[in-house]
Amino acid sequence: MRKVLAIYGTRPEAIKMAPVVREIERSPHLDVRVAVTGQHRELLDQVNSLFGIRPAHDLDIIRPRQSLEEITVNALAGLGEVIRAEAPDMVATQGDTTTSMVAALAAFYQRVPVVHVEAGLRTSNSYSPYPEEINRRLTAQLASLHLAPTPGARANLIAENIAPETIVTTGNTVIDALVDVAERDVPFTDPRLRRLQGRRIVLVTAHRRESWGRPMERSARALARLATMFPDVYFVLPTHPNPVVREALLPVLAPLPNVVIIDPLPYDQFARIMGLSTVVLTDSGGVQEEAPSLGKPVLVLRDTTERPEGIEAGTVRLVGTDEDRIVEEVGLLLTDKAEYQAMATAVNPYGDGQAARRSVRAIEHFFGIGERPDEFQPYLRGPATRGTSATRFRSHGTHDLTCVRCEVLAEVDQTSA
Ligand code: UD1
Ligand code: UDP
Repeated sequence: MRKVLAIYGTRPEAIKMAPVVREIERSPHLDVRVAVTGQHRELLDQVNSLFGIRPAHDLDIIRPRQSLEEITVNALAGLGEVIRAEAPDMVATQGDTTTSMVAALAAFYQRVPVVHVEAGLRTSNSYSPYPEEINRRLTAQLASLHLAPTPGARANLIAENIAPETIVTTGNTVIDALVDVAERDVPFTDPRLRRLQGRRIVLVTAHRRESWGRPMERSARALARLATMFPDVYFVLPTHPNPVVREALLPVLAPLPNVVIIDPLPYDQFARIMGLSTVVLTDSGGVQEEAPSLGKPVLVLRDTTERPEGIEAGTVRLVGTDEDRIVEEVGLLLTDKAEYQAMATAVNPYGDGQAARRSVRAIEHFFGIGERPDEFQPYLRGPATRGTSATRFRSHGTHDLTCVRCEVLAEVDQTSA
């Protein structure tokens, strides 16, 4: 048996690593141990409890308003000890948080090979997203096996001279997680959400460091204007626990009667509210991947994205943090049916629910066990893009989330378009 030590510390890493951990548990060739840095606390614990994961190590490094240096130093020291104690054959790290990058560095220092889940996302702008663009570039240098979620991510790695035979295109494990929770059909615990059934909902999340301060305040003012312009629409904000985020959003938004400010939702309830929403407004990475599967138009409160597939598919639009632009774009989707319909078709460029299986077969293959797995091949709807294959998906049911298990409707290979 080979031992894989899965390391993570924040909510999105936990959501995207959970399907991999569960799949390793099913492997007859691999053992898995989980270590968390605790860079997040309640957000992380929510996910571990939802997926039934009990970490063997918890560094509990979180501090109020923690600095990047604090996270780096505390996680590096703690993970060094954990890796020494566990002596794993491989460390698995996910994504681009500071925990992800530090986990890869701590493993490298002890000559333990690293598998990077969700490798190859890039904006080519070191400060957007900050510090994630540099975290993931550093992790790519430290990893021995790169699990790229999409062919575009694979191409980014190859452009950086990462050896092609060390890259496997798996699809994004977030879609595996979404399929899992979609089957659970959970009730909302917050009574305010239960009362929103049948209403139009704009779901909003925001947390990015590069948006702290003025950009986030502009977004808040835009939302306040929209809430006044559309009194019949409910603006639901599951607010990030970060006090910096709350200080920017709450003073402007909390007094408005149709703005519903709630604590961070457990992932299964968040997936459900996404499915019930009309429009999603977010700066989150994971939400940009999930909402297109649900046929929800996504307006991204950022100037760059490392996830161009949703934009190519026509369901995602970058709107930045300019107040007037946000008001205009959200207003358009709430008033213009044709514009809305053009963005509201379910597409699934990020995964097919098989990413964890491919990831674990890739890890086994790394150790000389079994064949290299098949590669995820997404198909995009929408305008032909050079080098892109296109397939439309059809939802086959009435459940909010059935489109994540969609069937191929039509396939159009447009590689030469
Ligand atoms: C982190 C990641 C970011 C990821 C995001 C997902 C870094 C540098 N940033 O950003 O890449 O997109 O998580 O949400 O790795 N807090 C709590 N409880 C929690 C979580 C956070 O109280 O469960 C508060 C604490 O005051 C903490 C602050 O939020 O100091 C910021 O947390 P931190 O992990 O530094 O940054 P995020 O903005 O959450
Ligand atoms: N999410 C959640 N509850 C919430 C808000 C978000 O479970 O109240 C999930 C969301 O579905 C996505 C992930 O958290 O899978 C995204 O986390 P976040 O936006 O914090 O990080 P990012 O993806 O931007 O790194």
